[in-house]
Amino acid sequence: MSFNYKTTVTRRAFVASSLAGVMSATLPFPRMAEAATRKFSLRAAPGSTRLVPEPHPDTAAWCYNGKVPGPEIRIRQGDRLQVEVMNDLAEETTVHWHGIRLPNAMDGVPHLTQGPIAPGDKFVYEFDAVDAGTFWYHPHQRSFEQVGRGLYGPLIVEEANPPRVDRDVTWVLDDWRLAEDASISDDFGNAHDLSHAGRLGNTVTINGHVPETLEVASGERIRLRLINAANARIFALDFGDHTPRIIALDRQPVTPHEPRDGVVVLGPAMRVDVILDCTGKPGAQAQLVDRAYRGNDFRVLDFTYAETALREATPDWPIALPTNPIPEPNLRSAQRHEVTFTGGMMGGGMMGMMHDGRGIWFVNGKAAEGHVLDPFLTLERGASHILEMTNATAFDHPIHLHGHSFRVISRNGTPTQHREWQDTVLMAPRERVEIAFVADNPGDWMFHCHILEHQAAGMMGVIRVA
Ligand code: C2O
Ligand code: CU
Repeated sequence: MSFNYKTTVTRRAFVASSLAGVMSATLPFPRMAEAATRKFSLRAAPGSTRLVPEPHPDTAAWCYNGKVPGPEIRIRQGDRLQVEVMNDLAEETTVHWHGIRLPNAMDGVPHLTQGPIAPGDKFVYEFDAVDAGTFWYHPHQRSFEQVGRGLYGPLIVEEANPPRVDRDVTWVLDDWRLAEDASISDDFGNAHDLSHAGRLGNTVTINGHVPETLEVASGERIRLRLINAANARIFALDFGDHTPRIIALDRQPVTPHEPRDGVVVLGPAMRVDVILDCTGKPGAQAQLVDRAYRGNDFRVLDFTYAETALREATPDWPIALPTNPIPEPNLRSAQRHEVTFTGGMMGGGMMGMMHDGRGIWFVNGKAAEGHVLDPFLTLERGASHILEMTNATAFDHPIHLHGHSFRVISRNGTPTQHREWQDTVLMAPRERVEIAFVADNPGDWMFHCHILEHQAAGMMGVIRVA
């Protein structure tokens, strides 16, 4: 029934109510003295967008400001961001600022941190951008359908002194399940997606279009900000003859390094910033291939080199990013907490159904239903904590904690090489991952799988910092 556009695309060019007072009082981060307030507005509404090239028709989607993705919000570290969100959808919504450390009341979780924004209503979000990096925004109300229909956009917070590059490029990756007429398949939240790997689609877009080529120049240095906005698809991007170097994961700087096996992996909601040096010769061609699903490799796009070089040799400018002001957890004194994920389909049976017959996925034995409000874990504010997480399922899960960054300190008992800061950590089936952080941001924070179908089917909970 559905149609795979990836294999059939023709060659075309790639086109490329304010709570401010309350917030400052509870913000654990120092406020910059002369922060500028940058104002934006977002209007969520049904619209139409060209995802796939002609002769296919436009696709009816849900858009911010009439577009998919929504507008790139770009501010500087230390700025205060104010966004007025208008809801012109036929259902309630909110906006969550994924990965941003902000006051709880601005986190955009319906019923937990704010009332949902009713159709025809608006809500003003306002907070300081304490961390620089690559973020994104999306609804937190029925996310599996609202994000799946196109509601998301990039949020870039620039460093005061970023590494020098020739181009700073944002790629918001998505994966759509389209019917033959390019319409979005209506089967959101079907039982199979909920209990397996989520809503995997058949059409990958970058910045809302099926990509064809990216024109580059020999010697060019690009900072490529990758954002995975897909409901469920994991990307494993193989840059082929190019050697990207990772400089940030989920917004936080990391010691610049080449990805393992040359493949950049992003689970849903994750971001990776890479420095891409265009080392090909003038007129050369190169490919970007996705290798996330065994046996289903596909060409994402072609790099085509301009006939003239930008410069002779690869730049030798430094690429490391300045660090963000995050408190370092004390691993020796940290309080330990076990978190186990269970459920889903495995070995021919629906494990989840055994627990209470309704949820499919479980966090410490509980499946969230509707709006979770009661915390399953309360963390002492200001103290260091280690979450010992076990994925006891047969599926991958990108696990996301709101309001904080955490260090990924070990996988299956082995210390991680880069001790990377993340806000969303991808856990393989049966994997154990330890994360550590200082619980410095008071409030009730969502903790959930970012495969949006898993979240909808119970895989979420609330962690209270008090
Ligand atoms: Cu990006 Cu709780 O979400
Ligand atoms: Cu999951």
